[in-house]
Amino acid sequence: MSYQNLLIEQDGSFLTVTINREKALNALNQQTMLELATFFGTDLPKRQDVRGVILTGAGERAFVAGADIKEFLSLEGGDGTEMAQRGHDAFFLIERAHVPVVAAIQGFALGGGCELAMACHLRIASEKAQFGQPEVNLGIIPGYGGTQRLIQYIGKTKATELMMTGDLLNAQEAYRLGLVNYVVAPGEEKAKARELLTKIATKGPLAIAHVIASVNAYFDHQTDGFAAEVANFAAVTRTADFREGAQAFIEKRAANFTGK
Ligand code: COA
Repeated sequence: MSYQNLLIEQDGSFLTVTINREKALNALNQQTMLELATFFGTDLPKRQDVRGVILTGAGERAFVAGADIKEFLSLEGGDGTEMAQRGHDAFFLIERAHVPVVAAIQGFALGGGCELAMACHLRIASEKAQFGQPEVNLGIIPGYGGTQRLIQYIGKTKATELMMTGDLLNAQEAYRLGLVNYVVAPGEEKAKARELLTKIATKGPLAIAHVIASVNAYFDHQTDGFAAEVANFAAVTRTADFREGAQAFIEKRAANFTGK
């Protein structure tokens, strides 16, 4: 498939996938989500020659600054079920890829961007990277797996605080909390990701695929917190606060939430 918003480059047995919407800080619109699902669900599984993927964003400012808030107001009926479910499906395809996927994070990884980084197997952050789940500023909650994966990575205590306050973490704090594997000098993220993939590529590919599957199995609980998140995300997208949050962002003003 040809992609509008993804750049795919091959370097030996590694692919670099770049989300290419720099003017929107690589925000994940529905087209980009569709393309991520197509790449990880259809194209990558056919590529038995590929031993690893680096996922990054275009430009220096952002990995991904979240779901595309400008599309929020056109959500049909204000119900986010499909939006959240599509994001979950795409991110599970990344998490369940047969080869390692390393996020190279040069700047903002916020909302859906933090969730996308967390769906990757490993994360390399620039010293300038910033992480967070600021959805509450928009009157919503994380909808692409963030309520579940942030707890998996950094624990319930700090994850709950971050999701309630919308506060951001700098790269060193993210490293200290276990959210990222390495912090590197700005501009070195992709090189470090390639170095890591090169080491992993010396190991048995089936062994690596089974490490991925086994790690994923650890989090495969009976109670489906991901399904609960879709339902809860849908509930907040039916509120007036949701529309006010997105409208206020677009109008570059503080939101006036009413609790309705
Ligand atoms: N969706 C859509 N567009 C976005 C976006 C998003 N999530 N994040 C940034 N953009 C756009 C901005 O609207 C702006 O476009 P414009 O030039 O047409 O106005 C452009 O990207 C640059 O962003 P800007 O806000 O001007 O940059 P900044 O340096 O002042 O702030 C951020 C950077 C990341 C702090 C700020 O853009 C932001 O808070 N983004 C939203 C983060 C978020 O809430 N993500 C979760 C969404 S669920």
